[in-house]
Amino acid sequence: MVHAATPPEDVTRDSYIQTPVETPRHDPFTLNNRVVVITGGARGLGLVMGQGVIHAGADLAIVDLNYEEAEAQTHQLVAGFKKQNPSATRIPKVTAHRADVSDPASVEACIAEILSQHGKIDSLVTSAGFTENFDAVDYPIDRIRKLWGVNVDGTYMFATGVAKHLMERNSAGSMVFIGSMSGSIVNVPQPQTPYNASKAAVRHLAASLAVEWAHANIRVNCISPGYMLTALTEKILNEKPDLKQAWVSRIPQGRMGVPQELMGPVTFLLSDASSYVTGADIRVDGGYTVV
Ligand SMILES: NC(=O)c1ccc[n+]([C@@H]2O[C@H](COP(=O)([O-])OP(=O)(O)OC[C@H]3O[C@@H](n4cnc5c(N)ncnc54)[C@H](O)[C@@H]3O)[C@@H](O)[C@H]2O)c1
Repeated sequence: MVHAATPPEDVTRDSYIQTPVETPRHDPFTLNNRVVVITGGARGLGLVMGQGVIHAGADLAIVDLNYEEAEAQTHQLVAGFKKQNPSATRIPKVTAHRADVSDPASVEACIAEILSQHGKIDSLVTSAGFTENFDAVDYPIDRIRKLWGVNVDGTYMFATGVAKHLMERNSAGSMVFIGSMSGSIVNVPQPQTPYNASKAAVRHLAASLAVEWAHANIRVNCISPGYMLTALTEKILNEKPDLKQAWVSRIPQGRMGVPQELMGPVTFLLSDASSYVTGADIRVDGGYTVV
């Protein structure tokens, strides 16, 4: 059998040796001159990813249902940046915007507001989302619709709104949807079927839009975190040590993740370092989903 990669017989080994290529002149991981929008960026994973992107050089628009918290965090983020970079000549612009990502009119108005303040959008991270636990037979349908409205419709509507802007500008862009390992596995012991389905949808939205928008140079990827220790999960788990033990016992790395561990993956996916990566799902879960 002839393998597809077998070179033609008239090609000598020397004629196809790969020579070193020119290395990029700029840092491929930089987000300099980019405007990044993060939904659900007022707290938790979205907030810490926002911290990561401004440290990589971006300006940031925080979108959240909770405007007050988002607004307060803009000051904290800039103060933190200045403290860590006392000699920086460029201070990131960080703005706060209120939106309910499950409401089309709210999403449209929010994108217009961001454009009026930043002039453009280059990248999007969709972290707005939530989970809740109900046995499937008892889950009220209006709550399921709310959950899917935020986790799925919200991701879709923000992504399409930003894609329209990028296409009108004829500009390349990169998006990262925050899914969950729950989109690939079923968590135990807590019952959360609609959440798991919503995160499977988020992952496949990323893959499908990546293919649909590749022609426009818009990359779309997914990050699927495992159990991450945010202020919120920490508070819940401190009251339920047995649950924490049940979770951690299934994680090969033997611990929950911390939000800072998403800074590298999100910066990589938004930057030119991942220019040939689209439609991918990066699982940041300490190995949970591979055992
Ligand atoms: N924390 C984890 O362990 C974990 C693991 C896997 C995936 N995730 C996913 O990561 C994302 C962030 O989770 P988190 O733990 O940081 O949650 P969080 O509750 O700390 O933060 C979510 C943010 O989204 C905002 N938000 C909620 N509904 C909104 C809406 N309709 N419109 C605009 N903003 C809205 C909230 O106000 C909040 O600021 C979620 O999509 C979640 O499913 C979290």
